Amino acid sequence: MSSSNEAELIHMFKGIPFTIRSSPELLKSLDTFDARDDDVLLVSYPKSGTHWLAGVITKLYNTQVTLTSPIEFGDISKLEELNKLSSQRIIPTHLDYNMLPPNFKNKKCKMIYISRNPKDTAVSMFHYYRDNPNLPTVDTWTAFFDLFLKGDVVCGSWFDHFLSWEEHANDKNILFLFYEDMKKDLFKIVKEMSLFLGLNTTDNDIQDICQKSSFSEMKSDTEKENSDPNHTVCALTSNRKLIFRKGAVGDWKNHFTPKQNRRFEEIFNEKMKLSEM
Ligand code: A3P
Repeated sequence: MSSSNEAELIHMFKGIPFTIRSSPELLKSLDTFDARDDDVLLVSYPKSGTHWLAGVITKLYNTQVTLTSPIEFGDISKLEELNKLSSQRIIPTHLDYNMLPPNFKNKKCKMIYISRNPKDTAVSMFHYYRDNPNLPTVDTWTAFFDLFLKGDVVCGSWFDHFLSWEEHANDKNILFLFYEDMKKDLFKIVKEMSLFLGLNTTDNDIQDICQKSSFSEMKSDTEKENSDPNHTVCALTSNRKLIFRKGAVGDWKNHFTPKQNRRFEEIFNEKMKLSEM
């Protein structure tokens, strides 16, 4: 990242750029995090539809659940805070598989990974960066495009993140979802989530959840909310308009030049040659 404020806002941990909102002490201590059997993880690379997924999941439960901020956000007191929660925890994270606290893996906690066309993810992230004072300044789409392809953005390379999780896509405790499938048939995906989580949600309730989880509903809900960034999926901004921007598939076509598209495809094909995607 090449902006002047980068050094103040970003630090590297295990080769991955994190914002200073993720303290090195917290990141180091994640290895010893005490997971619970009923923890549910919402995993994503940033800007892949995490809030959407979180909105659906919290509506699926009839019991009391607590949606926390991402496990990697905060200082060392975060772990204590999570320990104190008495209700079932829904924990978002942008960590790649290798950095995930081992306890979640050993206990086979349920995890839902959501992925999105990386071209749309890049565009969404560009707008997020551009309007977010907690992230380094990026002046142009062209500059951001290069940073994204190099993995020189928060949470590192999209490709590395995706591949680290795709390797586990068939693990029984992991459900792999795509943003585009949610756009196409939300009912089907919500039903899949309900079965995966062992909740017997009726079709009527699923229908209702789908209605309440549409882009326009969620956008207007959060505009009404007085949200506390420490208790939302995105701890990097309290400006909810940055999160509910367009909610569309294919916005990349409004940003990519034909040359950028060719370059993206080349790198995509090379990096993803072993992927089943
Ligand atoms: P855009 O910037 O392309 O609009 P995340 O939650 O991981 O930060 O991802 C944010 C992206 O998900 C944004 O994409 C946002 O608009 C989109 N999004 C959020 N809620 C949505 C919904 N209910 N339906 C469709 N897209 C949604």
